[in-house]
Amino acid sequence: MTQTADTAKETKPELVTATIDGREVSVPKGTLIIRAAEQAGIQIPRFCDHPLLAPAGACRQCLVDVAMPDREGNVRPMPKPQASCTMEVTPGMQVATQHTSEVADKAQHGIMEFLLVNHPLDCPVCDKGGECPLQNQAMSNGRAESRFVDIKRTFPKPIAVSTQILLDRDRCILCQRCTRFSSQIAGDAFIALQGRGAGSPGRDVHALNGSQIGTFDADVLDFSHESEVHDSAIPYAGPDGAPGTTVGHATAPVGAAEMDTSGRPFSSYFSGNTIQICPVGALTSAMYRFRSRPFDLVSTPSVAEHDASGSAIRVDNRRGKVVRRLAGNDPEVNEEWITDKDRFAFHWQDAPDRLRMPLVRDQATGVMHETSWSHALSVAGEELARAAADGGVGLLPGGHLTLEDSYAWSKFARTVLGTNDIDFRARPGSDEESAFLAAGVASTGLGVTYSDVETAGRVLLVALEPEEECGTLFLRLRKGVLAKTTAVTTLAPFTSRGTTKLSADLVEVVPGGEAAALDALDAELVEQLSQPGAVVLVGERAAVLPGTLSAAVRLAERTGARLQWVPRRAGERGALEAGALPGLLPGARPVTDPTARADAGAIWHVDALPAAPGRDHRAILAAAGTRELTGVVVGGIDLSDLPDPNEALRQLGAADVVVQLEVRRNAISELADVVLPVAPPVEKAGSFVNWEGRVRPFGQVLTSHALPDRAVLRDLAAEMGHDLGLSTLAELHAELAEFDPWSARTPAPAEAPGTAATAPAGSAVLATWRLQLDSGRGQDGEPHLAGTAHKPVLRLSTATAAAIGAADGTRVRLTGPTGSLGLPLVVTAMPDGVVWVPEHSAGSAVRGQTGAGAGSVVTLTAVEVAK
Ligand code: SF4
Ligand code: FES
Repeated sequence: MTQTADTAKETKPELVTATIDGREVSVPKGTLIIRAAEQAGIQIPRFCDHPLLAPAGACRQCLVDVAMPDREGNVRPMPKPQASCTMEVTPGMQVATQHTSEVADKAQHGIMEFLLVNHPLDCPVCDKGGECPLQNQAMSNGRAESRFVDIKRTFPKPIAVSTQILLDRDRCILCQRCTRFSSQIAGDAFIALQGRGAGSPGRDVHALNGSQIGTFDADVLDFSHESEVHDSAIPYAGPDGAPGTTVGHATAPVGAAEMDTSGRPFSSYFSGNTIQICPVGALTSAMYRFRSRPFDLVSTPSVAEHDASGSAIRVDNRRGKVVRRLAGNDPEVNEEWITDKDRFAFHWQDAPDRLRMPLVRDQATGVMHETSWSHALSVAGEELARAAADGGVGLLPGGHLTLEDSYAWSKFARTVLGTNDIDFRARPGSDEESAFLAAGVASTGLGVTYSDVETAGRVLLVALEPEEECGTLFLRLRKGVLAKTTAVTTLAPFTSRGTTKLSADLVEVVPGGEAAALDALDAELVEQLSQPGAVVLVGERAAVLPGTLSAAVRLAERTGARLQWVPRRAGERGALEAGALPGLLPGARPVTDPTARADAGAIWHVDALPAAPGRDHRAILAAAGTRELTGVVVGGIDLSDLPDPNEALRQLGAADVVVQLEVRRNAISELADVVLPVAPPVEKAGSFVNWEGRVRPFGQVLTSHALPDRAVLRDLAAEMGHDLGLSTLAELHAELAEFDPWSARTPAPAEAPGTAATAPAGSAVLATWRLQLDSGRGQDGEPHLAGTAHKPVLRLSTATAAAIGAADGTRVRLTGPTGSLGLPLVVTAMPDGVVWVPEHSAGSAVRGQTGAGAGSVVTLTAVEVAK
């Protein structure tokens, strides 16, 4: 494409030229001195500066000597050293850093001395010791000896910002990186700079005893859930060692919706990032504190497995055991941020119920026992061959697998078991979704990207709560919203905490009415979606809202907005690419097309592939329940993920043969005939395909004897007399590359818009989605993280609450077809006749406990009458 002179002019940044340490640099107008120096290869020490946070000039460590031309062009030095992280380069500026200026060098030494006045010399026991910018720069830019001989300021420690994040205030250098992160990136006010100066114990103004980073801790910083002014003595040790007294105003009362499960005000889903960017050891995590020294760790880049964000992470292991995870730096994807779930939830991969040996059920006694791989594979192979020849075998690989493992499942189903009965969806899905994925998602490559949503102009969210379901996407949307390059509209029953932080406009909808709402969007929104760059993001929950995916396609067609599907699980997009669906082969080849089958058959060296579309996950389970299907191979899924967990248990229990490939023992293991242990992501290499359609490869972190699904299926196939190939990842990738994207797509048939159910008095239409931190097994073994999850609540409008005699705080029982659950009520601005509860939180496993799903009508009862 040729660029016109005008567009070239538009995109070319205006450059300014200056000198830094005598070196001429030309940088775009607006560049900070510290960045220009980086580009010139000149290092300036800094603590508060962070490229993704607004400049604060808080620490003063980056002082440099600056001279600038006056109006006549005479270069005049500024009277005092300047903070290079807050000052922009201007034409003709002459900057001298500590490398060439005694003034700058002396200023930096002085600042360092001040910073160390109250900083404890506890590097040998501090978690940051060995990777600490303060420690490093004290060595490179500090004095060799301290002149400070007085008693350092100390604080009771640590403060628990949350059950996970701990704050040692005596180490804090008040750089405000954490507070800027909380306000500018996450949008959660969980940590703040409070007070001024060095402190004046006994004064009732700024009674926080000097400038310090504060939290919600009621005992220490005088926050309280009672909204009243009160006095309290706090165990504060000032310079003289005497306890201090503080008087202050408590915050407003915190309602149940803003609490975490530990009973504190909810902090943030992203709080762990503050630990990583804290330039000292003031912020630590309860799970890693005092566990290891940085120089004892082996670090491996990897990719997070908890959602479809594809976030880059770094996995640190000590002697073969993972002890922490950090955010990786990938400007195209997660920049430098990850969710707390991606950071802290990794013990699931090494949980006590981890399967280490194959299990086989003794047919005589019915008892599962450990056995050898050769025996387990032999039994599984024999049973599956018998089942395939009898009623057939269905495969449920689950949505957590790597692209490579899903491909192995897909090939195993077609070439070994001769079936298209395979479906990666371990969650409610629909035929409409299958057609939508085949027509417009599978093998379409990189679609809408993180950068695109950041600058989209207008983003419409449909059945998607980004903060809960894809945290990194939420952060990028928020970045665009704050920069005013993106505005968000959400189609939902109410504005959630997450969409409030996106300043989202709400198109209020009753579950089930999404399709009709999409067809009837107001003209202004349609106009905004018709502008170049506009994006419609549709979540996986749309699958069960009839007509919604079809309506989203119609909307995209009539406005030109780009449509992108955002699944919740890390492996779903990869499984789609691999053809782990009943109607699709790899490369989006339809199983019903003879040419597509011939292609796949040629690549797989088989004469014929099954031609009829297979059963989806619901039909596989149903057929297992009626013994129409004789066998089922189950991958990494939990019963609670399935559309009807109780019925699925019965259905799987009815099957003649159940073979499971799993990392950890679960309820399905208890009814399986053969259980084959497989490796978790940390013990294998592979790739996830994220929601953008971007392939995110990662390497193996830990040495392990555990086999990936790919290798287990290869061995199982061999046992059944087939050569699955795929012995190496290179071999698999070469084979997968032969499946170029299928070009002859058939548009998905348009489904008629559904209608929202009407709820009679005493009942309501159910809205529900999963929260980021909930009862999922991926968060097992991390109690500190669990304490930071949102407290589960039930939401009703004022009128609906009043109709059942309930008010804020009343416990309300929600009853569905199979049972009920009870949660405290939070009255919310939402449509009348709608109830919302979290889908899978403690005490709120909606499908398992009540048998209801989104759009169902459920009964409501106030358990306690409001006072
Ligand atoms: Fe800076 Fe750390 Fe203190 Fe926050 S806690 S202000 S990040 S030193
Ligand atoms: Fe410039 Fe802190 S890095 S003032």
